[in-house]
Amino acid sequence: MAEQKTVLVTGGGGDIGRVTAGMFAAAGYRVAVSDVREAAAADTVEAIRRDGGRADVYEANIADPEGVKSLFERIETDYGYLDAAFNNAGRGGGGVPLLEADDDIWHDCLLINLTGTYYCMKHELRMMLKRGGGAIVNNSSLWGLHGGPTAAYTASKHGVIGLTKHAAVTYACQGMRINAICPGIITAGLGLKVLCRPADVVETMLAKVPAKRAGTADEVAAAAVWLCSDAASYMNGHMMAIDGGCGSV
Ligand SMILES: NC(=O)c1ccc[n+]([C@@H]2O[C@H](COP(=O)([O-])OP(=O)(O)OC[C@H]3O[C@@H](n4cnc5c(N)ncnc54)[C@H](O)[C@@H]3O)[C@@H](O)[C@H]2O)c1
Repeated sequence: MAEQKTVLVTGGGGDIGRVTAGMFAAAGYRVAVSDVREAAAADTVEAIRRDGGRADVYEANIADPEGVKSLFERIETDYGYLDAAFNNAGRGGGGVPLLEADDDIWHDCLLINLTGTYYCMKHELRMMLKRGGGAIVNNSSLWGLHGGPTAAYTASKHGVIGLTKHAAVTYACQGMRINAICPGIITAGLGLKVLCRPADVVETMLAKVPAKRAGTADEVAAAAVWLCSDAASYMNGHMMAIDGGCGSV
């Protein structure tokens, strides 16, 4: 019998993480669901098991290098190998432009969104390279490609794109594929904070989206799972926008 594929989903207790973890499980993966909020990750795992899938909870703060080291030691002990990873854990940037930016939020946003992704990628690469390769998908944002309204978030997500491109060109010849997804406004998680603004503000915002609607967590998850699949075997260093066409305006 073929070995079961394994994947790590960080931020697996959040909205996009939960849906993506479920989709990986439905595609046959054993899913390591990690989050700093252990109870939220446990809910994701419970839902996957209820649907007949395999998943396990791993509490970890990706901003803490020792915590990340321990996360991968636990995964290596339990799974032995990792085929794919979805670096999805993240936070908002306070919703303000540069002149109003709070230094603490700036540092925390960069630490979680960018440095946390870097800590995880180091271990993912080491584990995957031992097996001859694997696939990593980083969750950036539409604001990783364009000038967004929030300084810290925009800077952190541009950083994720740079890290993705660097790793993609550096490790491609060793069997790695490393891509990023760039969701626009999504009816989940952080996107809900934007969508709960006054109706006229939301209406104006969505009117600028060529698709005239926000995206869904399922639409984001499908892209992440596909990029990790063999169907995407020649995709590397790609920044996939899931934004209803915003990036083409
Ligand atoms: N929802 C959107 O509209 C949207 C758009 C573009 C990009 N994104 C990105 O999608 C990703 C998931 O966000 P979401 O919208 O599902 O929000 P969410 O808040 O529901 O999920 C984020 C998850 O990350 C976890 N997390 C935060 N800090 C962590 C840390 N230090 N260590 C480990 N886990 C941590 C949270 O506990 C949470 O479960 C984020 O990277 C976000 O930037 C979201």
